[in-house]
Amino acid sequence: SSANPTARALLAWYDRHHRELPWRTTPAMAAKGLRPDPYHVWLSEVMLQQTTVQAVKGYFAKFVDRWPSVGDLAAAPNEDVMAAWAGLGYYARARNLKKCAEVVSGAHGGVFPDTEEGLRTLPGIGDYTAAAIAAIAFDRPAAVMDGNVERVISRLHAIDAPLPGSKPEMKRHVAALTPAERPGDFAQAMMDLGATICTPKRPACALCPFRGDCLALDGDDPERFPVKAAK
Ligand code: ADE
Repeated sequence: SSANPTARALLAWYDRHHRELPWRTTPAMAAKGLRPDPYHVWLSEVMLQQTTVQAVKGYFAKFVDRWPSVGDLAAAPNEDVMAAWAGLGYYARARNLKKCAEVVSGAHGGVFPDTEEGLRTLPGIGDYTAAAIAAIAFDRPAAVMDGNVERVISRLHAIDAPLPGSKPEMKRHVAALTPAERPGDFAQAMMDLGATICTPKRPACALCPFRGDCLALDGDDPERFPVKAAK
């Protein structure tokens, strides 16, 4: 593989320890080179903004069971979608979800754009969601950065500059680390690492694929990162 050694170590960890989530491909599908359904990736990423993985699982299952395609969601009455969303919060997300489904099934013929740039033109899709869908659904080498990834990258490089000002610097590090091969798995591996190993408190550094490279661990205080601006 042509991936850099750090990315390669992460991908090897992901192959053994990834979380099986309803919107991901199963290992058997992945072994055949199958990608997840962009509709599933989009729906899960919108739901996962400000909501935990555990809480999203049930809602995701309910939505794809009731509306199996983006066209089905586009055709659904607005009040049905809003009622199904109840409990997830942030209702502007649900309104944008419906709008986005209408644009994809109308102007785009039911097919999600396969680039970050194209995805960013859609209602409710910002930089994070566009990068996540481009990487996970289309295996594009997009730099995907959420709170988990910020924690991982700020520790790996012991970034002393505080958030949010350090975001561009962090994004450059993520882009430099993202491999040309398996960028979608890489993005999901960074999120899983942040959620399960590189946790805010008491990170499990002994189990981390980055333990040999991590400057925060080298400095003996990973929990110090990410540094945040004083409020
Ligand atoms: N949080 C947001 N998106 C995620 C994903 N695709 N996998 C795991 N955690 C996530």
